[in-house]
Amino acid sequence: MQIFERAAELQVYLRNLQKTGKTIGFVPTMGALHEGHLSLVRTSRAKTDITIVSLFVNPTQFNNPEDFKRYPSQPEKDKSLLASVGCDVVFIPLPQEIYPEGTKELPNYPLGFLETIMEGKFRPGHFQGVCQVVSRLLNIVEPDILFLGRKDLQQCKVIEHLLEITGKKDQIQLEICPTLREDNGLAMSSRNMRLNPEDRKKAAMLYKGMTDLKNAFGKTSFDKERKLIIDHLENNGFSVEYLELADSNTLEILNDWDKERSITICIAAYLSNVRLIDNMILHTVQ
Ligand code: PAJ
Repeated sequence: MQIFERAAELQVYLRNLQKTGKTIGFVPTMGALHEGHLSLVRTSRAKTDITIVSLFVNPTQFNNPEDFKRYPSQPEKDKSLLASVGCDVVFIPLPQEIYPEGTKELPNYPLGFLETIMEGKFRPGHFQGVCQVVSRLLNIVEPDILFLGRKDLQQCKVIEHLLEITGKKDQIQLEICPTLREDNGLAMSSRNMRLNPEDRKKAAMLYKGMTDLKNAFGKTSFDKERKLIIDHLENNGFSVEYLELADSNTLEILNDWDKERSITICIAAYLSNVRLIDNMILHTVQ
């Protein structure tokens, strides 16, 4: 496994491989890796010749400085996990490799309504930061396929939009991979490391709530079901930021069940100061 810290050196290495006809799969991450990340690496290995993973905790996407400070970091463990699943290249850049001119005057991307709902609404500036880092990483790596996790569905839609507005849609294929979960249903996340064992068990209630909504689909009104679930979560120590029904393709927010559309339920909630997000497909129209 090759490890690079310098963008220029990585580019020389990758361009040489591309000249020999090798395809490149790219998995961007912020480290503190878990099985969810590794599943993306495995998928990339199956679909491309060379898999590259980046480990970079991107400061510009944290709207809350405390969250940035508390973000877990375990680079040595990450490297050995990546080696164990056959990752070919790891990119661990210093901030100046990603932001050579600093972070004060980075571009602003027209993200439209995607920036005004759910994660966009509750984390102002977050998706601008995601676009800033992802567009820089894509310029360096120039992958054939970009692998992202459905756990961050709205991020997938934002990056899909980024590929369109930066003219990369035809060169880079986007592959959205399923969410990996703990046995109790909790979506794997680097932030789960900050939950104590009791909360880690309790956090599975988010999955349970979404499953209840799925079972209630079309039976009573969505508003009624939503209220029941939010009350139940809040009585158990969660603080729910949003629980929304969204069109699975466009993320348009829906007021009620709609059997004519593909629908995903999206949730964000705090448990003991740890922010958790998740989503579940409720209904798919072929
Ligand atoms: P991070 O949270 O480290 O996630 C890296 C990738 O792993 C993302 O595509 C995310 O959706 C995926 N992922 C996380 N948990 C997963 C799970 N349980 N199952 C499947 N995939 C999962 O997302 C980011 O980093 C950053 O915003 C980034 C895109 C790297 C830009 O900084």
